[in-house]
Amino acid sequence: MTRPSFVLFVGATGSVGRLAVAEALRRGYRVRAMVRDISHAGLPQGAELFEGDLTSVESFTRALDGIDGIVFTMGSHVSAAMIERVDYGAVRNALIALNGRKVRISLMTAIGITNMDTPRNRQYRNHDWKRRSERLVRASGNEYTIVRPGWFDYGSPDDRRLVLLQGDSRRTGSPTDGAVPRDQIARTLVDALDCPDATGKTFELIAEHGDEQPDLTPLFAALEPDFPGSLDGVHDDDNFPPSAQPERVLADLRRIQTMNA
Ligand SMILES: NC(=O)c1ccc[n+]([C@@H]2O[C@H](COP(=O)([O-])OP(=O)(O)OC[C@H]3O[C@@H](n4cnc5c(N)ncnc54)[C@H](OP(=O)(O)O)[C@@H]3O)[C@@H](O)[C@H]2O)c1
Repeated sequence: MTRPSFVLFVGATGSVGRLAVAEALRRGYRVRAMVRDISHAGLPQGAELFEGDLTSVESFTRALDGIDGIVFTMGSHVSAAMIERVDYGAVRNALIALNGRKVRISLMTAIGITNMDTPRNRQYRNHDWKRRSERLVRASGNEYTIVRPGWFDYGSPDDRRLVLLQGDSRRTGSPTDGAVPRDQIARTLVDALDCPDATGKTFELIAEHGDEQPDLTPLFAALEPDFPGSLDGVHDDDNFPPSAQPERVLADLRRIQTMNA
């Protein structure tokens, strides 16, 4: 796929989403931002605002008109049911609305999501739903990059050197797993859109002491791609068997795989 030209931002009003919108505008992308309430969006001039509901396939059908790239940065903090509808549902609904049409995708999830044994995951299933959203993207046949950021803005101002990890082995569920500035997450999501070396890759993103790299291509190039046909990130723990997933998730997977066939 060539560089996308018209990118839909889902979760555009979020703490990372709004930085990603600004970054994409700076890079010359045409930007459409899907927002709940246009009057409270507060996004930079130049972004086309689309008032829509990310829990609705019909909303995405309209929002995706003319779009050839999507950046997902949404997330709910409310309840397990809302995390399913927002974190997972937005990806599901967009892919169903695309009906097999191909776009370039950058998806933000989180470091540590392959650890199911955290207090928050036991209560909210936030890791599980994000992990299932990753699986839908991998199954969809779209060119994608999946970015699992560390703790937002928990580092010192001198921590700007980006480090990309694979295997999701840092998963204590605390900032010791790594931190990363929000603007650098936004930059990475947008950089990935037109970088062939980022395609088909899943990685954790943290920042350590040092300067920010001017070009992320060598960092993307050093990563291993996900195995073609695999639902999981390369080197992820094999601790989330597809056969143990809820039937509605399996039905979504089958539907999206069929669209891609
Ligand atoms: N904080 C961290 O250290 C960290 C690290 C890794 C990953 N993450 C994950 O990153 C994700 C985003 O975090 P954030 O801090 O950027 O969140 P945020 O600022 O609360 O942004 C969330 C975005 O999702 C949208 N959203 C939430 N619920 C919605 C709903 N019911 N319908 C439509 N849109 C909805 C919000 O829209 P509105 O503006 O309209 O509410 C907003 O655009 C979260 O899932 C979080 O778990 C966080």
